[in-house]
Amino acid sequence: MTAEKSPTLSSEGQAHFQVGKAFYRVKSRIGRDLAVLAATVDRQERGTLRILDAMSGCGVRSLRYALEAKVDFVWANEGNPDLHDLLAQNLADSLQDDTFRITHRDANEVFFECYQQRDFYDLVDIDSFGGGAPYLSTGLWATKLGGLLYVTSTDTRTTGGHNPDQSVQLYGAYARPHPASHEQGARLLIGSAMQQAAARGLAVRPIFAYYNGQVHRVMLRLTAGEPWPAEQYGFLGYCHHCGHYQTLSWRQLGRAICDHGERAADLMPQPMVISGPMWLGHLHDRPFLNQMRALAQTWNWHPQVDLLTLMESEATLPPYYFTLPEIGRRGRMDIPKREDLMAGLRDRGFQVSRTHFDAQAIKTDAAISDCIAVARHCHVASRS
Ligand SMILES: C[S@@+](CC[C@H](N)C(=O)[O-])C[C@H]1O[C@@H](n2cnc3c(N)ncnc32)[C@H](O)[C@@H]1O
Ligand SMILES: [Zn+2]
Repeated sequence: MTAEKSPTLSSEGQAHFQVGKAFYRVKSRIGRDLAVLAATVDRQERGTLRILDAMSGCGVRSLRYALEAKVDFVWANEGNPDLHDLLAQNLADSLQDDTFRITHRDANEVFFECYQQRDFYDLVDIDSFGGGAPYLSTGLWATKLGGLLYVTSTDTRTTGGHNPDQSVQLYGAYARPHPASHEQGARLLIGSAMQQAAARGLAVRPIFAYYNGQVHRVMLRLTAGEPWPAEQYGFLGYCHHCGHYQTLSWRQLGRAICDHGERAADLMPQPMVISGPMWLGHLHDRPFLNQMRALAQTWNWHPQVDLLTLMESEATLPPYYFTLPEIGRRGRMDIPKREDLMAGLRDRGFQVSRTHFDAQAIKTDAAISDCIAVARHCHVASRS
């Protein structure tokens, strides 16, 4: 990871700030844009909004929430006191004194103070390094009921299944590798937060999950009194022999055997590789995304409109994706053209979408054997 360090003024959205020795990554901008949109939608609905920016760095988020989402108050906490002058200068240059507060404490200490003081926040943004697990449950202490918690994981090695023991320690879930591992990263994070909230009689549900190629960001809504979604908290099985995925509940774990569909004749049934438990339900809250997209449209944020449109279309499809290279390899043919494959699947009555997790993949309710059959048909049709 590289942090841009510049002695000159940087800008992002309506914020102008010095980066100095703070960690600031230009590539994380979309994650900040999405948060600003979500905060604005909520502020418009609730009439007022207070933000806890628990790991502020140079303060770019606090500035953007204040200037663009026009929230009423921002608490900017940054654990490193050496960044005080930078953060104080950046916020004082653009904000009124009575609209922000700066502290330099461990984020967990801040969350517990909020709980102790009954000073809950409408949006708690935790932009941590690593897996984010140490703050998944504690961030809930500072979040208002009905409010938002924005969590981070940068540990894609673990969520991608390359360190399953670490994933048990971080998320209480065993993560194995498979081609849809970027989506798995978001689902493990959501699942872990759900379980930790449920242990305290609370509930969280995803508003959106975003992956920028390096970092997972998940926006969660905290509520109380919702039933535990047993059907949507479970396991994902993957067959390394044929590429088939299957969702499984705890009770079905003993039956995680793949019969390989149409390839059954030449292959023995095989146990599937199982990851989980994790969130298996809708990845994003479509109506909320729709509101964010309408707002992005009025702000002429065209790339964000395109991204939100894509996220809406992938929101309700099964919890995995098929990569085009895998379809080509398993079908022993060239990599299929995405648009042809999607049109062919739609013609056969399947739902299908691109996915923001991987530009070379599709999400669909079709099986991989259907994808291979359709891709083969597309190849034949293009040759004749
Ligand atoms: C990823 S950077 C934040 C970047 C910033 N939010 C942005 O969008 O540019 C994480 C920041 O959290 C601070 N930090 C790390 N652990 C912390 C903790 N336990 N409590 C408070 N701050 C912490 C680091 O000093 C670092 O500045
Ligand atoms: Zn199989």
